[in-house]
Amino acid sequence: MTTDLRRPTRMTVLGATGSIGCSTADVMLKHPDKFSAFALVGHQNSDKMLELASLLKPQWVIMTDSDAAKRLTGKLPAGIRLESGMNAAIAISADAETDMVMAAMVGSAGLPATLAAVKAGKRVGLANKECLVTAGQIFMAEAKVSGADVVPVDSEHAAVHQCLVGHDHASIKQVILTASGGPFRDRDPATLHTVTPEEAIAHPNWDMGAKISVDSATMMNKALELIEARWLFDIAPDKLSAIIHPESIIHGMVEYQDGSVLAQLAMPDMRMPIAYAMQIQPRLTTGIPWLDLAKAGQLNFQAVDQQRFPAMRLVQDVLKGNDSLAIAFNAANEEANAAFRNRQLGFMDIVTTVEKVLQQVDNVPVETLDDVWSHDAHARAMAVEIMNG
Ligand SMILES: NC(=O)c1ccc[n+]([C@@H]2O[C@H](COP(=O)([O-])OP(=O)(O)OC[C@H]3O[C@@H](n4cnc5c(N)ncnc54)[C@H](OP(=O)(O)O)[C@@H]3O)[C@@H](O)[C@H]2O)c1
Repeated sequence: MTTDLRRPTRMTVLGATGSIGCSTADVMLKHPDKFSAFALVGHQNSDKMLELASLLKPQWVIMTDSDAAKRLTGKLPAGIRLESGMNAAIAISADAETDMVMAAMVGSAGLPATLAAVKAGKRVGLANKECLVTAGQIFMAEAKVSGADVVPVDSEHAAVHQCLVGHDHASIKQVILTASGGPFRDRDPATLHTVTPEEAIAHPNWDMGAKISVDSATMMNKALELIEARWLFDIAPDKLSAIIHPESIIHGMVEYQDGSVLAQLAMPDMRMPIAYAMQIQPRLTTGIPWLDLAKAGQLNFQAVDQQRFPAMRLVQDVLKGNDSLAIAFNAANEEANAAFRNRQLGFMDIVTTVEKVLQQVDNVPVETLDDVWSHDAHARAMAVEIMNG
């Protein structure tokens, strides 16, 4: 794809009403000469969409939930066209007038529209890690065919992306993702069964959506990120690791064969990796606080305790296994995470449910998208059955 540099990049934002979507809007509003909104896609939050549409004046608003679209009928600023449904989101992602797609829907629901953007050869800012966890091989193969530029938005992967620039892939010894350890890093494990959704969502360093915040508390998020990194950077599982770094200042590191380790540092604010995905060179201003290392004083590190965070033990087998395991890992987690947020499941039962599903599913290669959805549905049904006892 060639972009006409005289006009702003036309953005389609999937998951516009969420945490990443709103931070993307913030970066766009800081650079109106460089970015314009072609389409904003939300699911149910019509109030937030109305607010964003008034600020960004997109050509299209799409709500994947039809009731939410009905609530917006007649309310959007003049000239903005309204559509509903996932098929509309898929079509707009591949539309000739979309230059770049910010993929920030949550969960595997984000896969069809993001994959449509990839197949159409768009530049894709990838926040939705579940795309690569569930269909990594298919997704990256399609990007190779179409020439789509897939740039990570996850802060850890954006960090690794920056540490890899100009370096030989064969020289990589280790890709290291940092993890804050979430709100329960130092809490007595014996008390974890009493954790409430509110406690789990209150992340010490990052302000994120509810699902990923709970994933951070279980460290399922880091586990998913290891799978994401495997596909995104084409890295063998034995060269992938994670380390706890409570300050969330270093986001990712790459160790090379000569013993050199490159790290990327920034204050924990998603507008930095979002802006990097939107435009790598020259760097965009973001408004995030400047990093003052003297003020930070110390940067601390500790090994991941797999007893406290069993998701990080489970992912080792998932990384070594076939794709059906990664699909089941993600699907079971999405079900269990939602059940916990709805107060139907204890915090400690989230990963236990995922483990039980993993013990029962087939470890087989996955070649088509239909297979992805069939493994996904099977694992979800199994998770629900396990949670219902
Ligand atoms: N937040 C972060 O700091 C962060 C960092 C790295 C990666 N990520 C990744 O970015 C993605 C988005 O995370 P987030 O924190 O921004 O989530 P979020 O705040 O919960 O927002 C999720 C977005 O997805 C939409 N959505 C929810 N269910 C949907 C469905 N079934 N179909 C279509 N759209 C749906 C929501 O729409 P409505 O709100 O309108 O219902 C909302 O726009 C996730 O994959 C996450 O892992 C997030």
